[in-house]
Amino acid sequence: MRIIKVSNYEEMNDLAAHYISSQVMLHPKSVLGFATGSTPMGTYEKLRELYRKNIVCFSQCTTFNLDEYIGLSKDNPQSYSYYMQSNLFDYVNFDRQKIHIPNGMSPDIKKECLAYEATIEKMGGIDLQLLGIGRNGHIGFNEPDVKFEAMTHEVILDEGTITANARFFPSIDEVPKRAISMGLKSIMHAHKILVLASGEEKAEAVYNMVYGPVIPGVPASVLQLHPDVVLIVDETAWKSVC
Ligand code: PGA
Repeated sequence: MRIIKVSNYEEMNDLAAHYISSQVMLHPKSVLGFATGSTPMGTYEKLRELYRKNIVCFSQCTTFNLDEYIGLSKDNPQSYSYYMQSNLFDYVNFDRQKIHIPNGMSPDIKKECLAYEATIEKMGGIDLQLLGIGRNGHIGFNEPDVKFEAMTHEVILDEGTITANARFFPSIDEVPKRAISMGLKSIMHAHKILVLASGEEKAEAVYNMVYGPVIPGVPASVLQLHPDVVLIVDETAWKSVC
């Protein structure tokens, strides 16, 4: 794992956006894996800026998002579909036909998961997967003790994740308890992985991801086995425990 330490959230986003846009400049038909949450918001903002300045063009890219809540429709402001539209897709030139986000409203979740995985495979896998890390060491919605070999699947969210994500909902009772997530194996199949971490509350998870044993109790620890991971971490997420 290559670790790049930066001073703050802004620097992390600047570096991450340039990393992603460089991938697209070199390989315009890149398959990009996107993440949601607070962490990558600044990176998406920076990507919008790079697009506005004509530095990068996304028209030939394909995208896959890591996860989506079960039971939220695309137009629900708390859905990850909505998040991606309002943070990135509405402002840059991705081809709508090439955007993929799991359908949390599917009447057959198992079928949806299999079809999602098959589409990723048909595209030749993900070239660059962007990841945040949860306070409990999750990546995507792969909560502690998930099977390393899991592909895209239905997950039951951890209490800690529900509490952490409640800040996006009117009340904690409205946070969905289930989601569709790419599995750890789907993530590990990506050719390159870019992990972002910012803030003191991530420090313990970052430490365990980088230095801890590779165990399902810390899903992100599996990234130690991936040959091409770059972690961009700011001082607060690094200093406190590392
Ligand atoms: P956050 O979530 O960026 O909102 O902290 C990260 C994650 O859960 O992957």
